[in-house]
This record gives sequence, C-alpha cells and structure tokens, in this order.
Amino acid sequence: MAKHSVQQEEAYYGKVAAGKLFPLWKMPPQQPEPKPRAVPYVWRWDSVVELLDEAGRMDHTIDQGGERRALIMINPGFEGPFAGTTPSIAAAMQMIKPGEVANAHRHSMAAIRFILRGSGATTVVNGEKVTMEEGDLVLTPQMVWHDHTNPMAQDLYWLDALDAPLVFYLNANFYNFYYEDVQPETVPENHTADTLGGGLLRNQYAPPRERSLSLIYKWKDTYAALHSATEAEGSPFDGTIFEYTNPLDAGHTLPGMSCFIQRLRPGEHTEAHRHTTSVVYHAYQGQGSIIINGQRLDWARGDTFVVPSWAWHEHVNGSYSEEAVLFSVSDLPVIEAMDLYKVEEGSRQEVAGVIEGSR
Ligand SMILES: [Fe+2]
Ligand SMILES: [Fe+2]
Repeated sequence: MAKHSVQQEEAYYGKVAAGKLFPLWKMPPQQPEPKPRAVPYVWRWDSVVELLDEAGRMDHTIDQGGERRALIMINPGFEGPFAGTTPSIAAAMQMIKPGEVANAHRHSMAAIRFILRGSGATTVVNGEKVTMEEGDLVLTPQMVWHDHTNPMAQDLYWLDALDAPLVFYLNANFYNFYYEDVQPETVPENHTADTLGGGLLRNQYAPPRERSLSLIYKWKDTYAALHSATEAEGSPFDGTIFEYTNPLDAGHTLPGMSCFIQRLRPGEHTEAHRHTTSVVYHAYQGQGSIIINGQRLDWARGDTFVVPSWAWHEHVNGSYSEEAVLFSVSDLPVIEAMDLYKVEEGSRQEVAGVIEGSR
C-alpha cells in the first residue's frame, strides 16, 4: 500500500469535511455500557426559591412574567439553553405571584406540573378548569391550550417537567399563543376526571376523545394509595412506589415521560439497582439520602436531584420517626418504546464519598 504524507492525509480529511462527511474510524471507541454525560446533581430548595423570588422582584427582566418565571435545572454534564436535566427531560421550578396569569399557549412538548407550595390557583386545559392544590399532579399533553391563574394571596410554586430536549432534538416542536390571555371555559370544571370514574368506570355517552388526557391527580388520592399498600407490597429498591397511569389504557403518564410517587418508611434503607432510565426526583416530604455509584447525596424537603442512566442507586429515609415521600419523573415510555429498558439488581453499596452540593 502506498505511503501517504502528512499533507496528503490532511488534504484527504479536508475533502471529507468539505463533503459534510465524518470518518467512522475517527470516532472514539464504543463503550460496552452506557456512560452518561449527565451527572448526579442536586438543586436545593432554598437556593432555587431565593432566585425565583428575586426574579419576581425584578420582572422587567422577563417578557412574560407569570408564563416564563421558571428556572430550568441544567445538568452540569450538559451545555446550552436547550440542555435539560436529563437527556430528554427539562425540569424547572416555577413561581406565579398573586393575581398573575400565565398566558394561554400550546406546544408539542408535553408538560407535567407537580404543585409544591400554595393552593387555590387554577389551570385551564383545553377549556376545562381544574383547581390546583399542594401535591397535585397536573398534565398538559402535547398541543393542548393551557393557562394558569393565581387568584390567591400567596405565591405558588411548582415543579415543571417537559420532554423538551427530546422534542427539540427531533425537530418536532410547534408553539402557539392563544389570541387572548386566557381561554374561555368551554366544558364543566373537572370534566375529564368526572367522565372517567377514577379510571374504573367510563362514561359511555361522553367518552374522552384522545389518549393524552388533561388530567389532574389529586394529592388526597395519591396519599391514600401510598398508605393503602402494605410493606410486603413494596419494592426492595424503591419502597412503596406507584406510577401515575393513564386511566384509558393503564399505560404510562404521557407518551414521552412517566411520573411516580414513592414512600420510604421511617428508617427504610433499600437495596441498590440500576436501569437505563434517567430519573429526576423531587423530595416532597421528609429527609434522607440517595447513594449513587457509591457517593452519598443527602436531601431535604423541596430539593430536586437527578439520577443518570445506568447509575447504581439506593434510597435511605434519614428519619426513624417520619416517612419520606419522593415524586419522580423519568423517560421510561421512550426507553421502553425503543426496547432499551434494562435493569440490574444489586445490594447496598459502600459509601466512598459525597456528591457535590450534599447537605
Ligand atoms: Fe406551556
Ligand atoms: Fe431506580
């Protein structure tokens, strides 16, 4: 084979690049298992809320106050304004002040919001009003009109999660504003939930029209489910855990994301496992730790943290008298749709250090 000079090689790679090509032999070697760019990380309640409140005092920096006063949690392993908390999910903390309206709009990204502080604000989704209280989970599936109003006297905080990074990556996002700030209410309040009979009975005269439902899962029902399960019905890796399912087909919460609620009994310390889903957790009640790949992360109520794909993790309730409740959202529906779901079960890990930002 003829030897080529350095100049000839350079010229060759120049022609390849000019042809908008990339030589596969220059790619870094393939890894035998996932090596996520996402890293474990925690966003503290106090720090995020302090920054949201400051934004609330200087609203001239924000074009659409109520609609846009959200701080997206960017995983330190990613970069740029379109980066998310995990590869496919962007979680954010949002605050709406008394009297504010988040203008009606719709987009191809699906969103969930989990209400953290403040009750009595309302959301209208495709003409249907629901009243949001602490611990409620509200869905706005893709392309449904939604606006939020806070008629109460106190600020309202919620955790948002959108499948935005994935939808942007797929170049599939549409985004429109409604021609008025607030859409008219065209169906009775709680219409969707009322025609579903709690998922067990379905109104045959007025059945839901689409699989993606504008649902609200009330905290009182979630709480009752969490406490109806016996210890024996718990998972060795997650404690008592429930998925928020779609009542029409018992499938995942939304096509691109699924949500979970889990309860760790006082003193509970689970075994470790790892899976190919990436998970954003929010500590809704209590205090505890998660051990991720041998590194401990201590959390308290209001903290949000992320567990990357294929990272070993186990949960610890840090209290011997109080239970702990974790809300979480993951990319399980996407991973399953691509037949990529894999889980490995292990046992408790040795703790070799703490994760940056641990309390
Ligand atoms: Fe939205
Ligand atoms: Fe897990």
